[in-house]
Amino acid sequence: MQVITKPDTIREIIKGVKKKGMTVGFVPTMGFLHEGHLSLIRRASLENDFVVVSIFVNPLQFGVGEDFERYPRDLERDRELARSAGCDLLFVPSSKDMYPQGYATFIDVERLTEGLCGASRPGHFRGVTTVVAKLFNLVSPSKAYFGQKDAQQALVLKKMVTDLNMDLDLIVLPTVREPDGLAMSSRNQYLTSEERKEATVLYKSLLLAKELVESGEKDTHVIRKKMGEVICTAKGAVIDYLEIVDTKELKPLDLINGQCLVAVAVKFGTTRLIDNIFVEV
Ligand code: PAJ
Repeated sequence: MQVITKPDTIREIIKGVKKKGMTVGFVPTMGFLHEGHLSLIRRASLENDFVVVSIFVNPLQFGVGEDFERYPRDLERDRELARSAGCDLLFVPSSKDMYPQGYATFIDVERLTEGLCGASRPGHFRGVTTVVAKLFNLVSPSKAYFGQKDAQQALVLKKMVTDLNMDLDLIVLPTVREPDGLAMSSRNQYLTSEERKEATVLYKSLLLAKELVESGEKDTHVIRKKMGEVICTAKGAVIDYLEIVDTKELKPLDLINGQCLVAVAVKFGTTRLIDNIFVEV
């Protein structure tokens, strides 16, 4: 496995790979890899001849006062994990190379970015779409892999790919969870042991929503209220949002009819966790 830091170098390598007729799969990450990331890398390795993983803690997608500085970083560990999951090339660019002085071009997907995480984190998705578009241009993958854990991100990126006629398949894979249901996240390691125990309320509330829908409840206000009660059993939990939205435009629904996305964001101290689940009647 090669480790590359320079954008020009990765371009050259990819050119060579493509000349040989090999397919390129790509998994963008911010590092501190866990089983969620590794599931994407393993799938990419099954479906492509050459797998690129990027690790870049993208300053553009963090707001003022968010956790950019303290975001966990461990390149040595990541390097070994990525290699063993089937990565052929690890791309670890610097901020200076991604956003040199005078950088002035940004990508904004409208509407889909207004609600959910877009409402609590202004500018976040602009940072995500901009960096992912740049990475797509450098890696020119035929397939790129993302997690359902960040459902809004996946949908926003799909919209970008369609609207900008990008020539790649964007593949979304299921959320990988800890044995007690907590969605894996690089941010879980911020949690104190007490918060870690309490954090299971996110998935519990999502499972309750699924159960209620399956037993015939269609009123989202009733479902959200009951989910809120589950989350509030955790003393340290502060709800950021708790929404039931349609899966195309992410607009809040009053009544469930067909497939919808139940999405939650909850803060424990300074740590903000998100999770979601699809439900269908
Ligand atoms: P990061 O949070 O490192 O996640 C990288 C990829 O792993 C994303 O597609 C995310 O949805 C997926 N992922 C994270 N946790 C997961 C889990 N428990 N199960 C399955 N997949 C999971 O998302 C980002 O980085 C950044 O915004 C990025 C797209 C790299 C742009 O900077």
